[in-house]
Amino acid sequence: MKCKICGNKAVIKLRAHNIALCEKDYIAFFEKRVLKTIRKYRMFDKDHKILVAVSGGKDSLSIWELLLSRGFNAVGLYIDLGIENYSEDSKSKCINFAKDKNAELEIANVKEYFNGLSIPEIARYVRRKTCSVCGLIKRYIMNRRALEGGYDVLVTGHNLDDEVSTLFGNMIHWQVEYLARQFPVLEKNHDKMVKKVKPFVTSTEREVAAYALMKGIDYMEKECPFSIGATSLFYKRLLNELEEKQPGSKLRFLNGFYENSGIFQTFRKELKLRACERCGYPTTETVCSFCRLRERIGNIVEKSEDRL
Ligand code: AMP
Ligand code: FES
Ligand code: ZN
Repeated sequence: MKCKICGNKAVIKLRAHNIALCEKDYIAFFEKRVLKTIRKYRMFDKDHKILVAVSGGKDSLSIWELLLSRGFNAVGLYIDLGIENYSEDSKSKCINFAKDKNAELEIANVKEYFNGLSIPEIARYVRRKTCSVCGLIKRYIMNRRALEGGYDVLVTGHNLDDEVSTLFGNMIHWQVEYLARQFPVLEKNHDKMVKKVKPFVTSTEREVAAYALMKGIDYMEKECPFSIGATSLFYKRLLNELEEKQPGSKLRFLNGFYENSGIFQTFRKELKLRACERCGYPTTETVCSFCRLRERIGNIVEKSEDRL
């Protein structure tokens, strides 16, 4: 197998693009496609102050690496979730990466907002699924830290497989309102809401993993213990089976959806955002779900302290 560009020995074959490449040409090919996606969806440019949410996994460290190596002004943000045997290791990966690249890393800690409780403890207290509590808290902290730090845009590492499995799930359940909002760019539509972008939406998980490997990124391989059995992983397996039979179908499915997303816009409900009475960040209600969660936790902790 020879590299299509230089004729040297190829190290990766991309059936979706009908191309085999050597390491050097793969890195160039991969970066060029991501930069094209950034330009196509007008995500950001070199004048912007970028905050990259990094989990320590291959996707977010790879996008940070790509942006740094291409001269973008990109600072990392790690959110410590307090998940045993997982958060400490993933935090170390982010700290080591930042040190190695001489890059700036901000660290936020969930415990600072929730009376010293970790994500699994909060979920247990309020009897909700860990991942849904975690998602709500991460989204809030990312947005808030981005605004407090004066950043123009927040980048996450969501890849093509993540987006296609979300799309598939939204279609299976005909979540038309979610379909009307699914896009690689979420514009700022409130003065306390930062623009959010996903530059890896056109890169598969395999392509990102190959890039991380070739770039020598030391990332966290362990998955979050609460993701075991997640429906999104089941969808990803189904979609990989489809991809195996019909290379390129994941990319065609997602690109076709973006091109035709106008179809779903009739279902878009304009959310009336206002400032949360407690924290001032946007919400559709009087008090935002983050502050309500904080209050519930505060009450529970107070009650249990009374009992001591
Ligand atoms: P996930 O929701 O775990 O699939 O992660 C999606 C994206 O959210 C990642 O690619 C990161 O950009 C970001 N992210 C996830 N966990 C964290 C974390 N603990 N701290 C900062 N960013 C995170
Ligand atoms: Fe939040 Fe797994 S990363 S529960
Ligand atoms: Zn609030």
